[in-house]
Amino acid sequence: MNRLLFTLLALSAAVALHAQGLRREETLSDWQFRNDHDFEQTDGWQSVTVPHDWAICGPFSRENDLQEVAVIQNGETASSLKTGRTGGLPYVGKGCYRRTISVDTLAGRRYVLLFDGAMSEARVLVNGREVCFWPYGYSAFSCEITRALHVGENQLVVLLENRPQSSRWYPGAGLYREVKLLTLAPVHVPVWGVQVLTPYVGADYASVTLRTKLDGLKGGETVEIETAVRNAAGEVVAAKTNRRNWVYDTPFEQHLTVEHPALWSPESPALYTAESTVRIDGVEMDRHTTRFGIRTVEVRADKGFFLNGELRRFKGVCLHHDLGPLGAAVNRAALRHQLTMLRDMGCNAIRTSHNMPAEELVELCDEMGFMVMVEPFDEWDVAKCANGYHRYFREWAERDMVAMLHHFRNNPSVVMWSVGNEVPSQWEADGYRMASWLQEICHREDPTRPVTCGMDQVDAVLSNGFAAIFDVPGLNYRVHRYREAYDRLPQSIILGSETASTVSSRGVYHFPVEYGPDRLHDDHQSSGYDVEFCGWSNVPDDDFAAAEDLPWLMGQFVWTGFDYLGEPTPYHTDAWPNHSSMFGIIDLASLPKDRYWLYRSVWNTESPTLHVLPHWNWPGREGEITPVYVYTSYPSAELFINGRSQGIRTKNRNSNLERYRLMWNEVRYEPGEVRVVAYDAEGRQAAERIVRTPGKPWALRLSVDRKTLAADGRDLAYVTVGVVDRAGNPVPTEHREVRIEVAGAGHFRAVANGDPTSLESFCEPHMHLFNGLLTAIVGSGDRPGELVVKASARGLKSAELRISVQ
Ligand code: GAL
Repeated sequence: MNRLLFTLLALSAAVALHAQGLRREETLSDWQFRNDHDFEQTDGWQSVTVPHDWAICGPFSRENDLQEVAVIQNGETASSLKTGRTGGLPYVGKGCYRRTISVDTLAGRRYVLLFDGAMSEARVLVNGREVCFWPYGYSAFSCEITRALHVGENQLVVLLENRPQSSRWYPGAGLYREVKLLTLAPVHVPVWGVQVLTPYVGADYASVTLRTKLDGLKGGETVEIETAVRNAAGEVVAAKTNRRNWVYDTPFEQHLTVEHPALWSPESPALYTAESTVRIDGVEMDRHTTRFGIRTVEVRADKGFFLNGELRRFKGVCLHHDLGPLGAAVNRAALRHQLTMLRDMGCNAIRTSHNMPAEELVELCDEMGFMVMVEPFDEWDVAKCANGYHRYFREWAERDMVAMLHHFRNNPSVVMWSVGNEVPSQWEADGYRMASWLQEICHREDPTRPVTCGMDQVDAVLSNGFAAIFDVPGLNYRVHRYREAYDRLPQSIILGSETASTVSSRGVYHFPVEYGPDRLHDDHQSSGYDVEFCGWSNVPDDDFAAAEDLPWLMGQFVWTGFDYLGEPTPYHTDAWPNHSSMFGIIDLASLPKDRYWLYRSVWNTESPTLHVLPHWNWPGREGEITPVYVYTSYPSAELFINGRSQGIRTKNRNSNLERYRLMWNEVRYEPGEVRVVAYDAEGRQAAERIVRTPGKPWALRLSVDRKTLAADGRDLAYVTVGVVDRAGNPVPTEHREVRIEVAGAGHFRAVANGDPTSLESFCEPHMHLFNGLLTAIVGSGDRPGELVVKASARGLKSAELRISVQ
């Protein structure tokens, strides 16, 4: 086609498309699903809404993905049977999604599918023809499908397959993130085609550079891009129109200036948008909006991480991507709920362990002010799992990395990349080569952010050069070796890329209280006294001390913020029915464990914390030693049992535990009242908490995180179901079954109780309480109205709660 004809065709098509609005983006949520690859079958399809996780409704089974392995990372030398390692849910196997897409014209249009993640080994077929394959289930990818389409109805099929032993945790299954269909003019900004850089950031002004890629040009056309930068209020704060002849494959660069920029920070997450209109030889072809922030990141030797020139310590958590009872199916409201809880705890950073996050998570971090470390891999070319990512690494790693870097490099919340987690290449003499190659890809695609890697083999990485090559050496655990690592490494900085791995079950307390690693109990739970951890790890207090004592420690990312499906350590070796983690600061039902207040007492410097444990309902333990711990931001407190003082405790440096917790280890249980009075630094009474032994269970009680939901069919409310006695005291020992009914302007979504051994389905509206609590998640419909949640249990007064859907 000669250039003139091409331009004319492109222009007429663009004009046609413009009539309906340039660049259309349609979210493809209605699909049919089946659990095999027989996409030509007419029967046996199930209607589903994407994001969808085909395995989350179970049933749980010990036989699901049994793994006979030695976890070398954990010091295991012989293999053993790991049960529940990937959640005990049926994620292994084949899945197939189909739907139609209707196309009214092909003339001068481009159609692109954008998958934010498909678990896994995705083959995309349009009208029976394979248009793309993308193996890594966590990667977002796009594929152009124009050539496979015809005018009218087109069949779209996505084939997925999850192999056994392909993961160390529950990966989810299916089209668990959004799928979009983009309709574009022949000349357009491709997916993730804009890079925004801020080469100078000052209080007076910031330089903003926009690098826009264009697809569909031949070379030689006159390209004009008009860009307006708007602030959060929608006001144009900078604008520029540039015109030039297109040079093949060179991004179109524009330089703008924003006066007195509002800098992005956790406290004030200011965002801007760059809205670009693209004209080719005078005709409008595309309009594209990129959201970004203005801020600087910098790592200074011996000091740490600086955001906008200000020293910040990461008070971070690692998060797996599952949303507990909702599975891997991404939901913005569920993510917001997680982040809201974490923010109240004082957390300021997230590590997306060990894979690319959902776009929704990163966008929320932009909006809510969390700093994010994005990490793509748990495996490079050497296997951790028999069928893990190592099978694809050599061929796909660069493509996966580039997709991730392009996807998230404009998000101000993203402040660092991590190229891997505890990869076995750490041990290899030439492992540093691979590490350096991956780091170079980051630097090439994004020269603005530092790169790290989560390393746990301290001996190896300090001597073989592996740790020395990263911008930031990230150590997983081994807090007692930070100083040595700092002394031996050239960077003069250390990041606690993964910390703690303390294990506990909400509301479970074992006696006697014993501090130590790898403790196992007959009930398959871990103690809520927060003194149990893994052989390679430690209690939170050790990391708090390091953060205070080591000026060159950049902070930490706790393993983990929330419990997740799979990895039921320490009950992982033939210990069914355990199938979900106990590492979380918050349990699988999104209910805070005691540990939440321990972190809050140190991390939340805005609002005081005073929390007392354990609960005080121990019939049969009368007269027995029942230690009382207090997690508080105040320096000291006095404990009263039934009005009798048990003495004042003051935080001190005798041990890390005494430095961060107030402990009365000799208290003997007697029913009644536990009262804690906290004193401030001047010794003045500052706050008080009372915990009472409850009477007989009398009624259910409901509370909810939000009273108003959006009528968008996707919004969620988390309803906490508890039991109280007649006086309203919580009964923390109740385990009876609760039924949930939802009526009106919404529906039941899921239920969870946080018990890592529970085999009850998340998808049925009934479940047993775990230590007096469970969470029912309810969703809004797409029409306004009132949503009514009712909970009932045999022998208890039922409870009802109303939520407005608007
Ligand atoms: C780390 C690993 C995490 C998780 C954790 C449990 O070594 O990076 O993915 O397995 O141990 O303690």
